[in-house]
Amino acid sequence: MRERILSEIEVIKKLTASNLNDVEEIRIKYLGKKGLLNDMFAEFKNVPKEDKKEIGLLLNDLKTLAEGTIETLKESLESSDEQKGDKDDLTKPSNLFSLGSRHPLSMVRNEIIDIFSRVGYVVAEGPEIEDDWHVFSALNFPPEHPARDMQDTFFVENREDNNHAILRTHTSSVQVRTMASQKPPIRIIAPGRVFRNEAISARAHCIFHQIEGLYIDKGVSFADLKQSLLYFAKEMFGENTQIRLRPSYFPFTEPSAEVDVSCNLCGGEGCNICKGTGWLEIMGCGMVDPNVLEASGIDSKVYSGFAFGMGIERITMLKYNVKDLRLYFENDMRFLKQFTSVL
Ligand code: DAH
Repeated sequence: MRERILSEIEVIKKLTASNLNDVEEIRIKYLGKKGLLNDMFAEFKNVPKEDKKEIGLLLNDLKTLAEGTIETLKESLESSDEQKGDKDDLTKPSNLFSLGSRHPLSMVRNEIIDIFSRVGYVVAEGPEIEDDWHVFSALNFPPEHPARDMQDTFFVENREDNNHAILRTHTSSVQVRTMASQKPPIRIIAPGRVFRNEAISARAHCIFHQIEGLYIDKGVSFADLKQSLLYFAKEMFGENTQIRLRPSYFPFTEPSAEVDVSCNLCGGEGCNICKGTGWLEIMGCGMVDPNVLEASGIDSKVYSGFAFGMGIERITMLKYNVKDLRLYFENDMRFLKQFTSVL
């Protein structure tokens, strides 16, 4: 047995392998269940007592050598494979570079901005953490108005003068900021995030997005408002889109109206999206209340104007037939990938 072990040691020292299959064969031959080493360990029982120590040590040497050699052969093949892969096949396609795309809400926001900038509106901005004056008081909300309630509004800081710091509940606050810092004519749209203390569901979220519009000049009339909104609706939803205005109430506009567009899915016939009515509500609007102009230092005897405000989530839902608002915020790639524009 001694000679056999010594000769196997010599054999192992000279082993080479040109690929990983060779290494596997060597492994099976020496270390496999029915391999040489198991055989020899079985035979070890028959070695005479006086030789056991020497043969035992040799046998262990053989096993360590076999294991080490197999490992070394494997490693050297793997590392040369990697280098070869890089160097040899220069025609191999590189890893796919996946290009991201705009979020659907950003796409629709940009489209709305685009539509209004074509007729002279410029983008205006205001802070998300606002105060009571810009969100409510200057917009003619009476002190006891329910929208000021904690149920709707997130308060950031209570202030002694009651001008509490709050998260803006609508982008109408940007109207106030703009009127306070610019002289008419004013023609702005203000996109942005708004916050309301609402339970999250398929139709409501505590964070969402609006776009506000404001146009102030001498002699601006309700007819101008109607025509501007019709222009927007046709650009956004298609040339055949109709609008209708229903009387409504907002503290900052007088008169006020709710704007519906003809349902572009059923062409006004009635379907489950428009709940059989043929119309979809898309925004609120109205003529700026003289109190609002005066609160911002604009002479309401000289100037008049109109304002409108819409939810970007809602417009996106209507445009792409999205049924659950929560999808916008979950960042599920399967949803987002359907909107491929990078503009
Ligand atoms: N701020 C209103 C809201 O959040 C939307 C709105 C209605 C804005 C009428 C306007 C307007 O500018 O004229 O519900």
